[in-house]
Amino acid sequence: MKGILYLGALVGGVAVLLLVSMVLGIIPPETVRLVEGYMPMQMVFELACFVAGFTAISYLLGAAGTPMPRFWQGILFWVFVWVYLKFRVYPPIPFSVRAMYGTVSLVAVFMWMSSNEEDWKKFRQPILNVLDAQTGFHRAIRTLALILLPIIIGGFSFLSMKPSSEEPIELRTVHPAPPASTKVHGKTYVLQTSQNPYRVNSEGKYDQEFSNARIVEQSMGRLMKSDANPWDPKAEGYLKYVREGGEIFFQNCHFCHGDNLNGRGLHAFAFNPIPANFTDPGTIAQLQETFIFWRVSKGGIGLPNEAFPWASVMPPWEQHLTVDEIWKVVLFEYWHTGYYPRTWD
Ligand code: HEC
Repeated sequence: MKGILYLGALVGGVAVLLLVSMVLGIIPPETVRLVEGYMPMQMVFELACFVAGFTAISYLLGAAGTPMPRFWQGILFWVFVWVYLKFRVYPPIPFSVRAMYGTVSLVAVFMWMSSNEEDWKKFRQPILNVLDAQTGFHRAIRTLALILLPIIIGGFSFLSMKPSSEEPIELRTVHPAPPASTKVHGKTYVLQTSQNPYRVNSEGKYDQEFSNARIVEQSMGRLMKSDANPWDPKAEGYLKYVREGGEIFFQNCHFCHGDNLNGRGLHAFAFNPIPANFTDPGTIAQLQETFIFWRVSKGGIGLPNEAFPWASVMPPWEQHLTVDEIWKVVLFEYWHTGYYPRTWD
C-alpha cells in the first residue's frame, strides 16, 4: 500500500514539475506532445495521473503529520485546472471558454470541499479566521485585503472605462474638398483661377484654344490626343515640358506610383493606402489641375481635417521640388495617362 502511494506521489510530482517547467519555458512545450486524434484520451490519462499524484502527495503529507489544509487543497487544485487549460491544451482555448471551464471546476471544487460537514468546516475555517482577525497575522491579512480589493476592482474599472487610443476604423475621404488657395514657396495660388503655366501653345503662351483643339473626348475624364512625341526635338508647345516633367517623375514618383503610373511602384504595396493609380479614371482624370498641384505640394500630411486619418505616405513635394517642377510633373502625369484635367465649369 505504502509503495503504491510513493509511486503515485512520484508520478504526480514529475507531472507537476513537467507542467511548471513548460509554463516557465524551461523546457519547450512540445517535449510531451498532445498527439492529434488521441488528444482527449491523452488528456484524461494525464489528468488521472495528476489527480492520483495529488492524492498520494496529500496522503503522504498527512501521514507525515503535516497535512495540507483543506482550503489550500481546493484553491491549488482550481489553480492547477486553470494552468493546465491555459498552458497544456493545444490549440489554445479562447478565454471565454476557459472562463466557462474555470467556473465549472470552481463549482466542482466547492462540491468536493462541502461534501461532508467536517471537510466544509475545515475549508471555511481560514476564511473565518481572517474575517474574525483574532491574531495579528489575520488582522494584517484582513487589512491588506481591505486595501487591495478596492484598488484592484477600481483598477479594472478604470482600465475598462479609459478611452482607448486605438486606431479608429478607416473611412478615408480620398478626395477631400481642397482649400480655396494654397501657399507654396511663399506664393499664394488661388485654386479656382490658377493655371498650369506649362500648358502652352507652340509659341510658349498659355492657350486654352490650343489645348481644346487636342481634346478628343468631352466627358468626365476627358482624353487628350497624344500622338506627338515629347522626345522629338520638333515637338510643339507644352510637350517639351512634358519631357522635363517625365524626368522629374522618374526621379521622384515612380517608386510609389509606378513606371506606368498605375500605382504599382516598387514600394507601393508596403503602404496603406496604396499610392494613387493615375490611369484610373477616378483619380487625376476627375480632378482639376490645381487640385493636383495642391496635393503634390502638400502631400499626405497636408490633407485637411476631413481626410483624417492622414495615413498617406505621399510626401509633401514642396519640400523637395520647385513650383515649376511640380507643375511640370503634373503636366507629365496628365500627358502619360492621356487625360485632360477637369475644369471648373
Ligand atoms: C512614398 C511614396 C510616394 C511617392 C514617392 C509619391 N507619392 Fe504620390 N501618393 C502616394 C500615396 C500613398 C498616395 C495616396 C494617398 C493620398 O491621396 O495621399 C498618393 C497620392 C498622390 C496624388 C493624389 C491623387 C488623387 O487621386 O488624389 C497625386 C497627384 C500624387 N500622389 C502625385 C505624386 C507625384 C507627382 C509624386 C512625385 C513628385 C509622388 N506622388 C510621389 C505615395 C507617394
